[in-house]
Amino acid sequence: MNLAVFVSGRGSNLKAIIDNQELNSIINIKAVCSNDSNCNALKLAQSLEIDTYIVPKIQDERAVVSLIDFLQKREIELIVLAGYLKLIPELLVESFEYKIINIHPALLPAFGGKGMYGMNVHKAVFESSAKVSGATVHFVNQEYDKGKIIAQRCVDISDVKTPEKIAERVLDIEHKLLPYVIKKFAQNKIKILNNRVIILD
Ligand code: GRF
Repeated sequence: MNLAVFVSGRGSNLKAIIDNQELNSIINIKAVCSNDSNCNALKLAQSLEIDTYIVPKIQDERAVVSLIDFLQKREIELIVLAGYLKLIPELLVESFEYKIINIHPALLPAFGGKGMYGMNVHKAVFESSAKVSGATVHFVNQEYDKGKIIAQRCVDISDVKTPEKIAERVLDIEHKLLPYVIKKFAQNKIKILNNRVIILD
């Protein structure tokens, strides 16, 4: 399965995908796209000679069409947002319907939406006094963190003393959950039934 990974930051989820032995034989990362030409994730892709694409700040129709063209030329079958901070334009969502997934560092539908990224999420979870957090992989639609949920994993945070500790525990889960979902996609085991996403064994 041909993959494009969209990134904006450190790239630990990208690295988790690249390093996952099980995925090695079933996926091919054809491109890494970023809105930030200086981010660590993009540097990682460049060091591995993966094709990269800088998503311009102004997402007018021409820019989106050229991004879609770049992705279609590489026969991308799944787009993975791994710490990508920008909204995906409508035309791209329509062109890759049910083929764009995002990892969010909390249990959606709580603690999601605009501005809820990185430490903002973990601080909100900490301040809410929630006793569990986790990671969510969901389909991407036009609204931040609103697409159908594909998979979630929880972690106990009842003993944590800082938001940073929550981030650490959740990140560990993200690095397992995202490769798991990608594998299921590659095996064509993710289906939509009765309006719900199901994952076959
Ligand atoms: C992760 O927590 C991801 O869920 C969130 O941003 C963070 C990115 O981390 N959306 P990395 O760039 O993959 O290290």
